[in-house]
Amino acid sequence: MCGIVGYTGPRSCVEILVDGLRRLEYRGYDSAGVAIQAGGDIAIRKSQGKIARLTDLIARKPVAGTCGIGHTRWATHGRPSDENAHPHRVGRVAVIHNGIVENHRTIKERMIAKGRTFCSETDTEVISHLLDEYVSAGLPLEEAVRKAVAELRGSYAFLAVTDREPGTLVGVRLNCPMVVGMGEGEFFLASDLTAFLSHTRDVLFLEDGEMAIATPAGVRITDFSGKRRERPNQRIDWSPAMAEKGGYRHFMLKEIHEQPRAILDTLAGRMLPESGEVFFETLPLTGEQLSRLKKVTLVACGTSWHAAIVGKFMIEGMARIPVEVDLGSEYRYRDPVVEEGTLCVAISQSGETADTLAGMREAKGKGATTVSICNVVASTIARESDGVIYTHAGPEIGVASTKAFTTQLVALYLMALHLAQARKVLTSGEISLHLIDLAELPRKIEEFLKREPEIAAVARKYKDARDFLYLGRGISYPIALEGALKLKEISYIHAEGYPAGEMKHGPIALIDERMPVLVLCAKGESYEKTFSNLEEARSRGGRLIAVGTEGDDLLREKSEDAIFLPPCGRYARPILEVVPLQLFAYHMAVLNGTDVDQPRNLAKSVTVE
Ligand code: G6P
Repeated sequence: MCGIVGYTGPRSCVEILVDGLRRLEYRGYDSAGVAIQAGGDIAIRKSQGKIARLTDLIARKPVAGTCGIGHTRWATHGRPSDENAHPHRVGRVAVIHNGIVENHRTIKERMIAKGRTFCSETDTEVISHLLDEYVSAGLPLEEAVRKAVAELRGSYAFLAVTDREPGTLVGVRLNCPMVVGMGEGEFFLASDLTAFLSHTRDVLFLEDGEMAIATPAGVRITDFSGKRRERPNQRIDWSPAMAEKGGYRHFMLKEIHEQPRAILDTLAGRMLPESGEVFFETLPLTGEQLSRLKKVTLVACGTSWHAAIVGKFMIEGMARIPVEVDLGSEYRYRDPVVEEGTLCVAISQSGETADTLAGMREAKGKGATTVSICNVVASTIARESDGVIYTHAGPEIGVASTKAFTTQLVALYLMALHLAQARKVLTSGEISLHLIDLAELPRKIEEFLKREPEIAAVARKYKDARDFLYLGRGISYPIALEGALKLKEISYIHAEGYPAGEMKHGPIALIDERMPVLVLCAKGESYEKTFSNLEEARSRGGRLIAVGTEGDDLLREKSEDAIFLPPCGRYARPILEVVPLQLFAYHMAVLNGTDVDQPRNLAKSVTVE
């Protein structure tokens, strides 16, 4: 998400930090800032907007020093603003941070009770307060950081400096990346090595639960208890373009692989599997109002619309509220009937899609309460809706949406459970089982991603096919739509997604050996029926690629190629099922030589009708 870079050494560091931040721009950001140790103090320069605004500010109010930290912020807690931009200076320390401090509210309340005041809406500021408390009490920064991390929950990487210890930079990693660059008498700490690759190629990747203490004399790595960790540096020969993509060939592939992390972040702080509780502080309706809802209308476009269709299955199935799903471009012009007790949920990665925004405004104008599910904080849709549930996928750069989609599904799953909880449709025991299913997803996806070469091999076999049919039933039907859309978008191969049961009413006429059929046929409520559809396609000479559940030998036997997923619950299944389809589309596109990250004629965010 956010970009982090720190420097300590003999050189003046402002330019080094700003240059590092420029190299992290590709991650997407809404504000930038630096903190420089200078003359026994810490000077902060930070601003909302692009790095050019920060450099203007530095030109107007120059600052110099040889140890400092720099940050590009991609908002997660608190809108993009000068106050929320990092670094966050409190007393003797300044901090920059990437990730989410899950228990920030509890710590903030405790700090406020002690008389401390907060200047931003960020979760980061609690780290600065904690560190300042310890440093002001006389602890060295390293010790202060160690004490602070013992209190922090969540996923984070942060860098801290204090005016007390010139030349010292302390960095921490827990579930967010942090890498050390080893120069000659100078050291770098960054969220990704692109930030310093022009200075050194000798690096050391921090592992989760490790800290780095850097001074111009050297770097020490310890665990959170202070125990020394030693390992050799690595020499990196990646090109700068490869480094931006974390060593992956394309942003889309990187983002597919980021899904376990993105899902964890979207779940963070919103559920307690043990007690079967779901929390959303940002919903505008009270439990009482939620229990009186009559209808939910989901409005979206493109991939987000597919998420909406999955959401319909989730909300109707678990919360037992009627749900209608519509495309933004259709809903806005069809003069919809909006009855009292309607909740309109707009789903949008960018939060800027013109048709989705217009659809949401239409519903609001007719009296609906509105909630959005967005990835970009403080985007137009997020701001205009009465409440917002942010997906914490991080910036998505590939035009074809992947991690934004799976995190939208996670947000919808949580929302459905939240509604079920408020309406007392499910017991906490039942909710608990759903939450366990959700909590297991990141690990299952992580495991599955290791089998990418298998999917690449299937793609090699079908790379010359020009038409595909994707079939799925029930909650897997929108996943068939999404799989077909992914293939169309990035490989320019024609693909149609269809509800499996509808095949016999038309598309079956198309099936022959030149049109492969991909069938989503996992074990579950509609397994037998989908299996029959698969047999129908097979008997028409169709080449079958099946996506099923591990151990299903019959499926392997009946299909030309089979991809197996671990078993999981009904509502978590679509989140897992889409991953092989994303990888298949990706490899088909690479084999066909298309521009994966920026496919022709498409835009990441469509702000026109
Ligand atoms: C564009 C993008 C799609 C995206 C759709 C909706 O068409 O290319 O990937 O699904 O817009 O975008 P949103 O930001 O509203 O989710």
